[in-house]
Amino acid sequence: GRTAALIPAAGSGTRLGRGPKAFVEVAGKSLLARSVAALAPLVDEVLVALPEGLTLPEGVPARAIPGGETRQESVWRLLHATSADVVLVHDAARPFLPEGVVQALLEAVPETGAATAALPVADTLVRGERGRWADLVPRAGLWAVQTPQGFRRELLLRAHAAARAEGFSATDDAGLIARLGFPVTLVPGDARLFKVTTPGDLALAQAVAAVWDA
Ligand code: CTP
Ligand code: MG
Repeated sequence: GRTAALIPAAGSGTRLGRGPKAFVEVAGKSLLARSVAALAPLVDEVLVALPEGLTLPEGVPARAIPGGETRQESVWRLLHATSADVVLVHDAARPFLPEGVVQALLEAVPETGAATAALPVADTLVRGERGRWADLVPRAGLWAVQTPQGFRRELLLRAHAAARAEGFSATDDAGLIARLGFPVTLVPGDARLFKVTTPGDLALAQAVAAVWDA
């Protein structure tokens, strides 16, 4: 079957403070251009949701549609813009995407219909209350969820439709599947897949780009 990469890139980048985040450049290349370049050779089509009124920069091999008010709404719109059997949803804000992670996801999707890149948590975790250590959260078995996430398109559509009907919102797509009780396969992600969220992340991205682009 056909595979599409769906890239939500319609956010405003409030926490970064540099304008629409997908258009922010790291070492001369935008976060969006980096994400598209990683996926384009591995899928049949690339669809990007952009902020209202903005257009794709020259030379980015993708098709653009207007995004929505939330990430979830942007993905909902992307899902309706393709007829691919399998979709890979990937945040534009994660510009360093190793090919091996995409391949592992594409292999995992047929098993359960849903899979996400994720990394075992390395830090000690604690629940805080009013700035004080309340209780330890054992980290054994805990994973930090990344993108890309791969799905049979029909399954993700169904999960989105259910979430909309119930007014449920989530920051990722695999969560909408798990919420319905369907299995989601965890595929080893990569530290370089961190999300560029704050100005500090941009400094880290510059350092990674120096190695990535070499
Ligand atoms: N996104 C989107 N549509 C929205 C909001 C977010 O497509 N209405 C996308 C972003 O462009 C990003 C991904 O979802 O690629 C993850 O969102 P996030 O890191 O929160 O980016 P922003 O929403 O742009 O940042 P902020 O929350 O700081 O404003
Ligand atoms: Mg956001």
